[in-house]
Amino acid sequence: MTKRFAVVLAAGQGTRMKSKLYKVMHPVMGKPMVGHVVDQALEAQIDNIVTVTGVGAETVQDYLGDKSKYVLQEEQLGTAHAVQQAEPLFGDQEGTTLVICGDTPLLTKETLEGLMTHHENVNAKATVLTAHADDPFGYGRVIRMEDGSVKKIVEQKDASEEEQAVKEINTGTYCFDNKALFQALKKVDNNNSQGEYYLPDVMEILKDQDELISAFQLDHKEEALGVNDRVALAEANRVMKRRINEEHMRNGVTMVDPDQTYIERDVVIGQDTLIEPGVYLKGSTVIGEDCVIGAHSIIENSTIHSSVQVKSSMIEDSVMENNSNIGPNSHLRPESVIKENVHIGNFVEIKKATLGKNTKVGHLTYVGDATLGENINLGCGTVFVNYDGKKKHHITVGDNSFIGCNSNLVAPVEVEADTYIAAGSTITDNVPAKSMAIARARQVNKEGYYDKMPHKD
Ligand code: UD1
Ligand code: CA
Repeated sequence: MTKRFAVVLAAGQGTRMKSKLYKVMHPVMGKPMVGHVVDQALEAQIDNIVTVTGVGAETVQDYLGDKSKYVLQEEQLGTAHAVQQAEPLFGDQEGTTLVICGDTPLLTKETLEGLMTHHENVNAKATVLTAHADDPFGYGRVIRMEDGSVKKIVEQKDASEEEQAVKEINTGTYCFDNKALFQALKKVDNNNSQGEYYLPDVMEILKDQDELISAFQLDHKEEALGVNDRVALAEANRVMKRRINEEHMRNGVTMVDPDQTYIERDVVIGQDTLIEPGVYLKGSTVIGEDCVIGAHSIIENSTIHSSVQVKSSMIEDSVMENNSNIGPNSHLRPESVIKENVHIGNFVEIKKATLGKNTKVGHLTYVGDATLGENINLGCGTVFVNYDGKKKHHITVGDNSFIGCNSNLVAPVEVEADTYIAAGSTITDNVPAKSMAIARARQVNKEGYYDKMPHKD
């Protein structure tokens, strides 16, 4: 089989984004644009990928890691100059080379495969991926010969009025015969309105050498979107969101209103899970079967097992096991582990704590830095006092304990199994198993006090 290479162009400064963040690192549904592009190329079975980055692009390299090789384009002299930087890596080899821009996150592997297969089947030296645009402004126009083959590509700023009327645009994705590409690149000049070395000029150079230049038109023109500013970024998010949601629905997930449901690229969801409007599922979140994720819940980097109910709550870097439930309006902060059948009710905050099976935390409670056993009941208003102003300390509560309302457990402290804590207690000493602890002042009733008060006069 022909050897396949890919060059990902990602060195442009992205001035139109007006951002401190490197352009291709802007996320589309949670994943940097360049990540979408490189992953699609990898899925299209191209394993010789080189990414062209500019100065200050360490974030791109840190993010992509060994999915790609890297070359530096020190000065951004244009797309042709960018591709030329890859020459030392494989410029002299036989093969097919795909050139993709790091700012076209909607391209799919099917399109890349289609483009390469077409290019190899027709035996072209270069093939450009084109699309029909209702509003072609800003894109390069594809100018065809009378026989339908490609003559050249002209940039917006260099196009005559007649050329500007052409609605077939260059998507910025191309396929080349590898050797022909690097030979033609040497002939590209920068005599144009932007003073840049344009990659699309390679087409005309090869055409003048009587080589076959082909075009492959996109079925879904939305894939052509090149993100140059934040308006286009929002559009890319909108399209990607719809694509992701449709995949989940086809796999058996119910969405009450997919337009109002935000699921990042790498999230996994099981069958018969129902997702209500306003839900945002982020990062590496995995959700099991038969769950209900209620309106306006946010879940990030968490594992939710099956038959779990989440009502309007926020869950970060945590685990909820089967048949547990939370909310409304509660918050699991990082490193919380909620075991089977646990009930967490309203206005509860849990941080770095494990709650054993069947434990209940019904309302208005803070649990931090703690290990709780099974079948525990935490009364309303329980506070785990885990911080002394300098350090966090740990609290352990044993199985079957009943913590009365409005108790403070002051860390470090251990409440052993089968104990009662009387309501309103502030517990500072360990509580032995099978006992009851009361830690509050005794009540005093002052009889007749009301009639002695000054307001009686
Ligand atoms: C480019 C094409 C245009 C096409 C459009 C599709 C050229 C000259 N024009 O225009 O025909 O319709 O894409 O979206 O190629 N880059 C570098 N180094 C550089 C310059 C650019 O790496 O010196 C990278 C950018 O990071 C970007 C890509 O190349 O990922 C395209 O550059 P950009 O400036 O966005 O080109 P467009 O003006 O969009
Ligand atoms: Ca662009």
